[in-house]
Formats: sequence, structure tokens, C-alpha cells
Amino acid sequence: MSVDVWREGAVGFVKLNNPPVNAIGLDTRKGLIDAVEWAEAQDGLSRIVLHGLDRAFAAGADAREFDAPPVAPHLPDVLNRIEACDVPWVAAITGVALGGGCELALTCRYRIAKPGVQIGLPEVTLGVVPGAGGTQRLPRLIGLKAALDLISTGKPVSAERAEELGLIDGRADDPVETAHHLDLGTIELSPRVGNLERPKPNETAVEQARTLVRSKSTNQIAPARAIDLVTLSTTTDLPDGMAQERAAFVELRQGEQARALRHIFFAERGARVPRSLTADPGAFDHVAVVGGGTMGAGIAYAFLNAGLRVTLLETDAEATARAQDNVERIIAASLKRGLISDGGATDRRQRLDVSFDYASASDATLAVEAAFESMDVKKSVFTALQKHLPKNAVLATNTSYLDVNEIAATLDDPSRVVGLHFFAPAHIMKLLEIVQGERTSDRALATGFALAKHLKKVPVLSGVCDGFIGNRILAHYREVADTVLLEGSTPWEIDEAMVEFGYAMGPYETQDLSGLDIAHANRRRLDATRDPNRRYIKIADRMVELGKLGKKTGAGWYRYPGGAGKVEDPIVADLAIEEAHFAKITRREYSPSEIRERLMCAMINEAVGILEEGIAASASDIDLVTVFGYGFPRWRGGLMHYADQIGAKNILATLEKLAKEDALVWSPRQAIRDCAQTGTSFAQHFSGKK
Ligand code: 3HC
Repeated sequence: MSVDVWREGAVGFVKLNNPPVNAIGLDTRKGLIDAVEWAEAQDGLSRIVLHGLDRAFAAGADAREFDAPPVAPHLPDVLNRIEACDVPWVAAITGVALGGGCELALTCRYRIAKPGVQIGLPEVTLGVVPGAGGTQRLPRLIGLKAALDLISTGKPVSAERAEELGLIDGRADDPVETAHHLDLGTIELSPRVGNLERPKPNETAVEQARTLVRSKSTNQIAPARAIDLVTLSTTTDLPDGMAQERAAFVELRQGEQARALRHIFFAERGARVPRSLTADPGAFDHVAVVGGGTMGAGIAYAFLNAGLRVTLLETDAEATARAQDNVERIIAASLKRGLISDGGATDRRQRLDVSFDYASASDATLAVEAAFESMDVKKSVFTALQKHLPKNAVLATNTSYLDVNEIAATLDDPSRVVGLHFFAPAHIMKLLEIVQGERTSDRALATGFALAKHLKKVPVLSGVCDGFIGNRILAHYREVADTVLLEGSTPWEIDEAMVEFGYAMGPYETQDLSGLDIAHANRRRLDATRDPNRRYIKIADRMVELGKLGKKTGAGWYRYPGGAGKVEDPIVADLAIEEAHFAKITRREYSPSEIRERLMCAMINEAVGILEEGIAASASDIDLVTVFGYGFPRWRGGLMHYADQIGAKNILATLEKLAKEDALVWSPRQAIRDCAQTGTSFAQHFSGKK
């Protein structure tokens, strides 16, 4: 049973018992109705103590049920029964109370939470609005402004903050025990939240919430609907408000955005050690990071944040000082943003040693190399690591493109080499590509996955190829963007088209941030192996020749006068016109939807190639890579989820049309033809279950 009931004297206990996180599904809803009926049938019961598991009081409605039509008893009706029950219920919030779990607590007459637990209504992050009274009861309890903040952002608060807001009545280390012995008069005097007065209107707060949602949750439907509903609580009685809330919830949960957000939510939870990988991971309490540039410093800081001891290795005293400064800058920024305390900063500094002597890392059991992207440099770093670190240490490379097998071949034991591809800034970005070389041992791989878990990152397994999963897709995105640039559009138009799609910024603004020199060096690396029949567009090379390396030089694809916002640079258009002239291309205008169609189809075609070759294991792994590493809009569910919305047939038709312009770039992958023919989705075709 997912709900247990019992009584001790005059006190009834109702325990939600649906591990791991007490998601409230049909069984729990039925169990709660039974519990109400049980309580009302008891003689002399003074209260019900409602509690859950240590990990979760309740994590909300069971989102796995959202794909199917709702089945009675519905949660709002269940919660109304609890609120109306003759016997008062006290919520003993033993673990997180989120979504429907928080709404459940709101129908109790009194709420006591364990210090530190998270409480909130994160429904908008799943593309829905609270659907069991949250938008109507919460503002009645804590006022309109605070309710708007919580519900429209979906951000939970700690028990401490919840008490300040009046969301809970108190905190206790043992909330069940406290609720058990709480003075009965106090409980009886505490009103039913649904009976409280409507909150006072507050137009300023509503406008502020709308402005925030427009900037932070652009294109998303649920947050704006949530604001409408919370605002409705100022003018409507509870039953009417709840009816409108429920209608919005049911409509949204079957919509495309909610489906996409659910998909990513479950894909993220599913990103863990593959079942076939049973080896024990190696230890990683002391990690050596080689290279203290932006990337290496970010990686070192990510380790420090996770409580590990770090030796950051550089080449000489000067580079060591620079590396130290780079980490210090991150510590200072974290302090400024209130992410860490002074004590936390000191603790991190104490666990960091920056050195140019590899011997100082001689007891490190894991090393992550984040040195300059050159095969020779990597080989010499790995040779030094082999010499100084223990024989069984796992040695990882953070290379973005280079061949992990070639790096591994420099070692006596190549099986201890694995790719760990972090994304900048490494202490913030959640994606970690774990690259399996031909000889990588299961132990090294398992270490990568264990590390990802420890760092709270999303691990995705990748095979070896140029750019692995993410950068290989990115290369095709950029290639086609450059083609559109050559043939008629400006960086501004291309970027705008992608921002309208939902990216925070388009490909050119992104390159201006990362620096045009990085992609340039990569193109030079590929010169020797590039297919001579494939069109090579020189505009980016010419930008680099002009010293336009991006924001750091004041100009790249855009100019940044006075370090401020981007403005168009006419030189870029001139270069494009000139290059088009040399290539005998008659330029033409591309509409934003044509631009999007090309960039999306290029990425989808390449992603399917990556799946066909077994470089990525499943379509949802591609979704995780694109969302957590490359800014693909989460509410679109990732590249392959989006591809399934368009449908293989339509993608095939577009690729076949474009292949008439350039077969080398656009020829559709076989699996797209197969899916189009059989009507199979990419998610099914590449489910990863072989
Ligand atoms: N529905 C279904 N399954 C859920 C779930 C939910 N609401 N919340 C978590 N789970 C599942 C996860 O998928 C995972 O399953 P798995 O083991 O099979 O992969 C398992 O529970 C454990 O989850 P986590 O790995 O995320 O465990 P953590 O301890 O790291 O985190 C958590 C726990 C903080 C509760 C986190 O899971 C979470 O944020 N859950 C979602 C909370 C949420 O958004 N609730 C609102 C739901 S919508 C709603 O309530 C509508 C209502 O208003 C009508």
C-alpha cells in the first residue's frame, strides 16, 4: 500500500509510503481518500499526523501518469476532502514537499517541516501549472507577491524561508514527533487555508512577475498562465478558481511544451551508469587537473565545490600564478553571488594546491588533462602523468576533438584513459560527455560515471569521433550557418532566427563569446583530411586574418563599441558578398523559417549519423547533450525530441530538396529514410535498448 494508516491513542497517523519519492499516483490518491474515510469513522480522534519518507514528504503528482487522461479520484478532489475532514490534519514535512506534495500540505491545518527541506511548486518547470489548488491556496496563505514569486519561477524554498513567508507554521528536527504532541488548541485555532480571505490585489507585483517571466522564460506558456491563475485568486472564490486552475493544468499537461519538459526531466534522471557496466569505480578524493586556463580552472573549481582535494598542474611558475588567479576569480565571483560563504571560500582554497611539479600529485587517483588542444602537448602531459601518478590512477582527457585512442596509445596501459569532456564554464554547465576509447577499461568508464554523479552532472556516453557527440553536431550547424551567410543572410539575421527558435543566442554571437581563434585552429587541424569536394567557406578565416577574434578583441562577427551590446559590422557583409562573388553565387534572401529549417535539418541529419554509427547510444542522449551542453531550448525537449515533432517524413522531404543544392552536405542518413518509411519515431528507433 502506498498509504499506511494507524492510530496511537487519540492521534491518527497517515504515512505516504511510495518510494523512492512519494510521487502521488492513482494508488496514493485512493489511499488518501480511504484515510479520510478512516479518520472520519474513528471515535475520539484529535488529529491526523500526515507524513512521508525522509527523502520526500511527497514529490508531487506522479508525472508518469501525465501522458494518459486523468483518472478519478482526481488530486484536487482528494485534497478538498482532506481540508474539509472533521479531524484536523497536521503535515509533518519530513522531506521535500513539491508540487502536489506542497498542495497536500496546504490542505492541512498546520505545517511543521524538518530544517533544510525544500518546499515549493515547481510545476512550471514541467510545463504545467499547479493543478490541485496551489495557485488559489498559496496566495491566500502567504499573499499575492510571494505566491507569484514561487509559482511563476517554480523555484522551491528552504524550510527556513518557507517559515519566514508563512508557508509553514514551524520547523522541528522530528516533525512527526512534534506534530504528535502539538497543543490541540493551536491546531484547532489554525484556519483552513481554503477559508482564508482572498489575497489583496497587487498590480505592481503582477507586472514584475510578468516582466521576469518574459525575460527568463521566453516562449514558455506555463509561467504566464500560472501568473494569470494566481492573480485570479484576488477576485474569485476558491471553487471557481480551482476549476479554472484544473482546466488550465489538464490542457497544458497534454501540450507539446509539457511533453518536451517531461521528456527531458525523465531523460536527465535516466542518465546514469549503463546497466552493462558493473565494474567498481576508482577513487577520486584527490584529483590532478592539468592546465589552469579557463577550462582547467573551471574543472578544478567544480571538484573543489564537490569537496575534493585538487592539485592544479601547470608548466612553470608564471603559468602557475595565472592558474591560481583564474581559480581565485571564480571563487570571488561565487562569493559575490552569495553562492559560497567566506568560510566556504577558505575551505576551497585549503583543498587546492597549484604547482608545476607533477610529483605533488603523486597520490592523485584521478587526473583530468585540460591542456592546450594539441596532440603533442597532450602526449607529453600523459607521459608525465604516467611517470608521477599511481599505476592504477584513471587518466582522463578533456579534449574537445582530439583522438582519445591516439592519446591513450602513448601509455603502457591505455585502458586507464577515458575522455571526460566538460563544457565551459565547467563548474556551471551540467553536461559531461564520457568518451570511451577502444581500450578504455570498464573501471575507467565507471569512474567517469561516478565522478559525474558526485559533481551532480549529466553524464552521456560517447564513442570516439571528431568532436564526439556535441561538437560534431555543432560543426554541421556552423557549416550550414556559414553557407546561409555566404548565400545571402547576415549574422544578425541568422542569430535572430535561432533566438526566435528559443536559443539564448545564435551561432555568431556564441562564437564571438568563445573566440573565433578556437574554431580557426580546429579548421587548420582538419585541413589535411578535409574532403576537397566539400565547399569550404573562407569568411571566418578572413575575419581571423583581420584580427576580429570576437568580444575579447572588441570585434568579431559583431562590433562591441565601448564593451557594450553588439552592433552589426558592415565588413562582415562585404566579406560575404566578396566570397559569394568568388564562388559565383547569386545571393538571395532567406526567411527566418528557411534559416531555421536548414540549421535544424543539418543538426538532425548529423545526429542521426552519430546514432547510426553507435557514437551515441540513444536519441535521448542526443537530447541531453543538446539541452545541457549547447543551449537547445529545454522546452523543445532536445534535438531528437524536436525531430520527432517534425516527423521523419518531413525531415526526409526537406533533406532531399536541399540535397539537390549540395548532395555532400544534405544527403539524408539511412535511418531517416527507414523511420520515414516505417513511421517509427527516432526515439523508438534509437531507444538504446538493444
Ligand atoms: N513523478 C514521477 N516520478 C518522479 C517524480 C514525479 N513527480 N519526481 C521524481 N520522480 C522519480 C524520478 O524519475 C526517479 O525515478 P527513477 O529512479 O526511476 O529514475 C526517482 O523518482 C528519484 O528522483 P531523483 O533521481 O530526481 O531523486 P532526487 O532525490 O535527486 O530528487 C526530487 C528528488 C527533488 C523530488 C526530484 O525528483 C524532483 O524535483 N522531482 C519533481 C518534482 C516536481 O516537479 N513536482 C511537481 C510534479 S507536477 C504536480 O505535482 C502537479 C500537481 O500540481 C497537480
